[in-house]
Amino acid sequence: MINIPKGCKDMLPADGATWRTVEETAREVAEEYNFKEIRTPTFEHTELFARGVGDTTDVVTKEMYTFLDKGGRSITLRPEGTAGVARAFIENGLQGGVMPFKVFYLISAFRYERPQAGRLREFHQFGAELYGSDSPAADAEAILFANRFLEKLQIGDSVELRINSIGCKHCRAKYADALREYFRPHIGEMCEDCRARFEKNPLRMLDCKNEGCKRYTAHAPSMLDYLCDDCRTHFEKLKSLLTAAEVSFTVDPRIVRGLDYYTRTVFEFTTDLIGAQSTVLGGGRYDALIEQLGGRSTPAVGFAAGIERLILAMDAKEVPIIERLPDVYVAGMDEASRTRAMIVAEQLRRRGYIVECDLMDRSVKAQFKYADKLYASKVIVIGENELKEGAVEIKDMSKSLSRRVKFDEIAQYFPKR
Ligand code: HAM
Repeated sequence: MINIPKGCKDMLPADGATWRTVEETAREVAEEYNFKEIRTPTFEHTELFARGVGDTTDVVTKEMYTFLDKGGRSITLRPEGTAGVARAFIENGLQGGVMPFKVFYLISAFRYERPQAGRLREFHQFGAELYGSDSPAADAEAILFANRFLEKLQIGDSVELRINSIGCKHCRAKYADALREYFRPHIGEMCEDCRARFEKNPLRMLDCKNEGCKRYTAHAPSMLDYLCDDCRTHFEKLKSLLTAAEVSFTVDPRIVRGLDYYTRTVFEFTTDLIGAQSTVLGGGRYDALIEQLGGRSTPAVGFAAGIERLILAMDAKEVPIIERLPDVYVAGMDEASRTRAMIVAEQLRRRGYIVECDLMDRSVKAQFKYADKLYASKVIVIGENELKEGAVEIKDMSKSLSRRVKFDEIAQYFPKR
């Protein structure tokens, strides 16, 4: 027996309706906000993530699935979707098109993390990216889109939106100095990662999960006290737009996010429905990424939600999921009527119905039992008599009513859907 790799999960048919609900809702909401779908490869050159996501992040330093392909190229399974979309935007010359450029994606992503509930090595994301606008209205649209998505999944009242601003490269440099000054007396007692982050990117230290380090990070200076005038105005405008749209939020200066490309706005939706891995959706602005990847300077903002975490939250809330059940089971008695049953089933499927017929050589009684198990709402019975008379017996399973209908009137009885 060969087992599934650690940190992966099979999506079994019993979960299909829930996954479909999430994915269809994602598409519906993307349409409302007029975001178009984009698909990029599952793997990219390692360099894209090292440069894009940032080489001081845990994602890049510890969690990437990286290998050499047979041509000796360093390839990485995408740990997230933003870098690939940015590469595609630049490479396909989409910068020359109409702005804003708005796309969404449904992808699987890969991170070599310690698996636990809501944390997998292969997981799935619904993400959206908006390029070309540096207005806080774009940040607001990304957040409203995310908020509407969670609302439509019926978990909107169980999530909390937290926002922060981590400034631009100018004010962040001053903040980094302030952090270094604050951490300097304690650096000897902090973890090895933090000692490396201290020089390269002290903001990362705020995200350290090490209990010993948390003692110091808890009282670190707040970025909000270091924002430059432009960044402060941007953040104030965003807050007023969210307030105008009646989206409730809290400002949480502790949010730094686990990826290096962010500038200014960062945000997370968290829930207490699903345990420790409580962030169901995260995102923010990243005005420097496109240029950093070799494109023309283009402001950008986006988010991604973890589908497995959304589903854990929906399960915890017992969100009702609508599963379409078979409309019709077509039973046949002997060989000739079974052939006819197959043809009737085909006819009804083409009219938009979910239809099953016998594939197991079951007796008529056993076929009825099976139809019952499927919760099929109608059963059509075809036997020798029916073939002779050119008619079928249609039984309504919920009302135990039955009706005889001529073969050429079946279509009328089942109007096209
Ligand atoms: P992220 O916060 O790394 O952001 O991931 C987004 C979401 O993916 C998380 O909030 C979480 O729900 C889910 N997620 C992350 N890692 C795992 C895991 N190991 N297992 C299960 N779920 C996970 C990004 O990926 C950014 N690309 C989002 C973004 C788009 N920012 C701007 N545009």
